[in-house]
Order: sequence, then structure tokens, then C-alpha cells
Amino acid sequence: MLDQYIQDKIAELKIEDTVYKLPIIIGSEGERAIDIRALRSQSGHITFDSGFMNTGSCSSDITFLDGEKGILSYRGYPVEDLAKHCTFAEVAYLLVHGSLPTIEELKHFSELLGRFALIHEDMIHFFDGFPAGAPPMAILSSMVNSLMTFYPEMTENPLENIDENAARLISKVRTIAAFSFKKSIGHPLVYPRHDLSYCANFLNMMFDSPVKPYEINNIVVKALNKVLILHADHEQNCSTSTVRLVGSARVNLYASISAGISALWGPLHGGANQAVVEMLEEIYNGGGDYKKFIARAKDSDDPFRLVGFGHRVYKTYDPRSQVIKGICDEMLDALKVNDPLLDIAKEIEEVALKDGYFIDRHLYPNVDFYSGIIYRAIGIPTNMFTVMFALGRLPGWISHWKEMWVDPNWRIGRPRQVYVGPKRRPFVPIHERKGDEE
Ligand code: SDX
Repeated sequence: MLDQYIQDKIAELKIEDTVYKLPIIIGSEGERAIDIRALRSQSGHITFDSGFMNTGSCSSDITFLDGEKGILSYRGYPVEDLAKHCTFAEVAYLLVHGSLPTIEELKHFSELLGRFALIHEDMIHFFDGFPAGAPPMAILSSMVNSLMTFYPEMTENPLENIDENAARLISKVRTIAAFSFKKSIGHPLVYPRHDLSYCANFLNMMFDSPVKPYEINNIVVKALNKVLILHADHEQNCSTSTVRLVGSARVNLYASISAGISALWGPLHGGANQAVVEMLEEIYNGGGDYKKFIARAKDSDDPFRLVGFGHRVYKTYDPRSQVIKGICDEMLDALKVNDPLLDIAKEIEEVALKDGYFIDRHLYPNVDFYSGIIYRAIGIPTNMFTVMFALGRLPGWISHWKEMWVDPNWRIGRPRQVYVGPKRRPFVPIHERKGDEE
């Protein structure tokens, strides 16, 4: 896969009197890289790149994004087209299998999602062990990791039934998410139904109740499909890189995904969708003065950041945020929901995008800026927003884990470092220590 993209072109690196020749790689969409796999053995030097801002960890044929042009595609298909024409199950199939499913293939995949929707009844008792108010992402990460105890065959040959295992995990995570919500509000669990699609089933498990049957609204189902599609993958982001790094030690799928869920939880990553709504609520409850928050975001002495803005890769609009903003307008309109937080978000976007601080730093709304407004309108509680991000991202994580296992160039992930600590020194017995050493 990678070798065909290694060019005859060479990068030359001159260190003192020696010139080192490093091959150039040009990807299928024109991304350029210098192949430094032989750098240390040839030159005794490593590269230094905290946050891996300039470092490629792998080659991949899953997702392409261009941060300068605001382009995002899964297996070559623009996400805007996928969000417009597909269901989330269809896109999950695309990511995991590499091609859009035929009618038959999608029917089989949907049957698998239905077949695997239940979690073992013994697992349901795990929920009782969590204290009231336990963060849903902690519950999700723990429950996903514990799936391994019910499916030990996963370690034998993880790729053997990867398609079934992918469907099993995608379906069970949806059930775990809905069950954890019901448990958190002390309501009886609503079990999955075989006659409902992926998103309709999730909504029904979340909101149906013995005293008030939930009316499935196709406008909401369609909107949720689109939002999950837009979250489904994003190449080597923090949580996907975590899944790959943990998986590279030949860790089973469930434990690797559980690690990815933990990484996504961070407020700088997937936790931002919850932090955005909390910020908008604080602005609204404080009288609506969003300009104060923009001023704080610009103040280098204030650690506050305008959550939902900025991105490591996108230096223009995150294409997902524009589609999600449109879904917001359409869905709230159709549901006749008027959310003042959406108005505040739009005003912040308008003012920030005219402000030199944001313009100079190429800070635009990212995928998290508007997504929480949709979840609010659906009735999903704020502390479940990042769980929704995980539901969407799961097919992407699985596809990268699978790709890593079959990558001939892959080996256990183990970055180097530059040591800047104390030089070697003699040991000091405790009775001689004065406590003032550096
Ligand atoms: C996701 O990687 C992915 O693909 C992630 C994701 C995915 O789909 O997986 O897209 C999902 O995680 C989206 C991002 C969600 N996070 C947030 O919305 C949190 C707020 N945004 C940031 O904290 C920040 O923008 C990051 C973390 C997203 C990116 O940070 P970088 O690339 O490390 O950039 P940086 O911190 O070096 O910032 C560069 C400058 C700095 O100012 P100066 O020091 O140059 O003066 O921009 C400023 C930063 O202070 N800056 C912000 C800002 N984001 C960056 N200033 C105010 N508000 C912000 N949101």
C-alpha cells in the first residue's frame, strides 16, 4: 500500500559535513511526507515534534482531510454527500469494509446490528456498581473494556470475525449508552427492538417509557443519522491515535476502543461539545453577554478558550460544522424549537470570524460548536454529549484498529524523546541527603 507512494524524489538533510538522503512520499491526494524511518540509524538523530504536529504515524486509506481547503472524505466519498444520502449504518459499513454496501450487504449488516443489540444480562448489574452521577464516559469506557470478559475469543484471531465483531461493538455501545442514561435517571431499561433502525432504536431506548411511549420522529432520526455520520472518522485525531497506539501492542479491540473513549473524553477533544453548551448556558444565564467570553478567549493571561473554536488541522471552516449548523436550523425549525443558545452561538461565530485574533490564528467553528444544540433539542442530557461523539466515532476507531493489524509497516508504537534531566551522578545514601538537590 505505502510503497507505491514512495517517490524517486529525495530530501537532503545536511548535518555538519554529511548529507543524508531521505525518500519523499506523496499520498494519493498529494500529501507530502519525508520518510525518516532510517534517520536515526543513518544520522544518529531523531526528530522532535511535540504534539506530533508535523509527524505522520502511519499510512491510511480510510479518511482524507485537507485542513487548508476544509475537505473531509471517508474512503474517497465527501462527507457532505454521505450525510445527505446515507444512513449511519451504511457509513459504518463503508468505514469498516472499505466500500459502500450493496442492498444485500447492508441488509446483512443491519441484521447483525439487530442480532447483537443486547448486552449480557450479567453486564446490566455493572451499572448498579456505579455511584449516582457517575460520568457517562467513565461508565462507557469501563463497560466497553468489560465486553472482553464476555467475548474472550476476541484475542484468538481478532481479524477472523472482525466484521461480526465490528457490528457487535457498534450495536452494543449504542445499548450501553442508552442503558446508562436510563440508569442515571432511575427509569426502567428499554430494550432494543429488532424492527427499528440503528438511530431509531437508540432514540427509543433512550426516551421510551412504560408510562409514556416515545413517538419516533423521522425528522429527529434523519438528523441523528447525519450527525453521527459527520463524527464517524477524522484520520489520526487524539482518540484514534490512542486506539492505534494501544492496539499496536496487540491489545484486543474492546480494550483499544475503551482507551479511545478515554482520550475522546478530554475537553480539548470530544469533551468540547459538552463544554460548548455549558459555555453557552453560562452566557445565557448571565444575561447573554458573549462578548465578555470572546475577550477572555483573546486574553493570553486567561486560560479560557472559546470551546468549539479552533482545530489542529482545519485552518478554515471545519466542513462538518457547516453541515451541522444547517441540520440545527432544519431540525429546530421542523420541531418548532427555539433555542436561545443557538442564537448566541451564531452571534459568537459572526463576531469572532470578523475579529483579527481569530482570523490571524485561523480559528473557525469546529465539529463541536453546534452539535450540542442538536442533542439538546432531541432531549439528550449535556453529560451524554461526548457519549454521542463516541457513538459516531466508533466505526472510525474500529476501521483504524483493523487497518493497523494488517499494515505490513506497522510495529508497536514507541516514540523516542530528548532527555533533558540530570546527567549521571553517584548515589547518595539517605542519611547524607540534605534535601536541597535539584
Ligand atoms: C475535536 O484532531 C481532530 O481531528 C479532533 C476532532 C475529531 O473529529 O476527532 O476534530 C474533534 O477534538 C475538535 C476540537 C474540539 N476542541 C475544542 O473546541 C477546544 C477549543 N479549541 C482548542 O483548545 C484548540 O483549538 C485545539 C486544541 C482544538 C487545537 O489546538 P492546537 O492545534 O494545539 O493549537 P494551539 O493550542 O497551538 O493554538 C494556536 C493559537 C494559540 O494562540 P497563540 O499562543 O498563538 O497566541 O490559537 C489559540 C492559542 O491560544 N487558540 C485559541 C483557541 N484555539 C487555539 N484561542 C482561543 N480559543 C480557542 N478555542
